[in-house]
Amino acid sequence: MQAIQARCDGEPFYLAQGDEIEIFAQCHRQGLPVMLKGPTGCGKTRFVEHMAWRLGRPMVSVACHDDLTASDLLGRFLIRGDETVWQDGPVTQAVRRGAILYLDEVVEARPDTTVVIHPLSDHRRVLSLDKTGEVIDAAPGFQLVISYNPSYQHALKDLKPSTRQRFVALEFDFPDSGREIEIVAVEGGVERACAVALVTLAGRIRPLRDRGLAEAPSTRVLVAAARLIAAGIPERKACEVAIAGPLTDDPTLIAAVRDLIAGHFH
Ligand SMILES: Nc1ncnc2c1ncn2[C@@H]1O[C@H](COP(=O)(O)OP(=O)(O)OP(=O)(O)O)[C@@H](O)[C@H]1O
Ligand SMILES: [Mg+2]
Repeated sequence: MQAIQARCDGEPFYLAQGDEIEIFAQCHRQGLPVMLKGPTGCGKTRFVEHMAWRLGRPMVSVACHDDLTASDLLGRFLIRGDETVWQDGPVTQAVRRGAILYLDEVVEARPDTTVVIHPLSDHRRVLSLDKTGEVIDAAPGFQLVISYNPSYQHALKDLKPSTRQRFVALEFDFPDSGREIEIVAVEGGVERACAVALVTLAGRIRPLRDRGLAEAPSTRVLVAAARLIAAGIPERKACEVAIAGPLTDDPTLIAAVRDLIAGHFH
């Protein structure tokens, strides 16, 4: 189980796409849970890291998957010598510490784990630990944030509509080209001209979705290509390994992407 707990000292770089920073901050003040929808690599995790830093809260992040059990999230009894001790899981820790709890790809989790979410998204903001009988009020500053990629799942099928409707939904997408150029330049450590070329290339590859490309190249893959270029890998090679390769295994599509790369980087 992956749980990352971090209190960021430096500001995580996040370039806003609209008014999401204000809306999130207001939700935090009002104790409203937030759901982030959007394709892979478009800045959802970075946004939450940035908001945790801005709001001065610790962030507890859990990558959900189908093996995750309620005990993984809430905690379990462990045997230590001849004693049995309770150990909090990441959700319980977050509730006690007043952290921002980020459940990434929440629909990947099994239905019994999503049951955990219901009382936390409620206005009472409580967590019941059946195994210990404890009922914990979320500490001030606690905020539940979930994310999912609507193109993988058509709906948050495991969440009841009554739960869904307690969330405020923020929709994410790839930034416009001006913003994406800035992100690629800053994050990738490349000159602006190189960032422009990468973003222009992405703009040509993204329409291939209509020809069978499952996912469009994200800002993340552009940043990865930029980092390789900044480290001295030739531009074309960097784009092939960081952009074309991860996108698809389909030979026709790979060839089409390679042609586009060759057209942009000689
Ligand atoms: N608005 C942004 N500001 C700063 N960096 C960004 C932004 N959008 C994307 N990035 C860059 O893209 C990378 C990927 O973003 P991030 O990890 O937040 O994606 P994600 O939406 O959480 O993807 P996934 O759904 O796969 O988890 C970041 O590490 C960062 O370099
Ligand atoms: Mg993420």
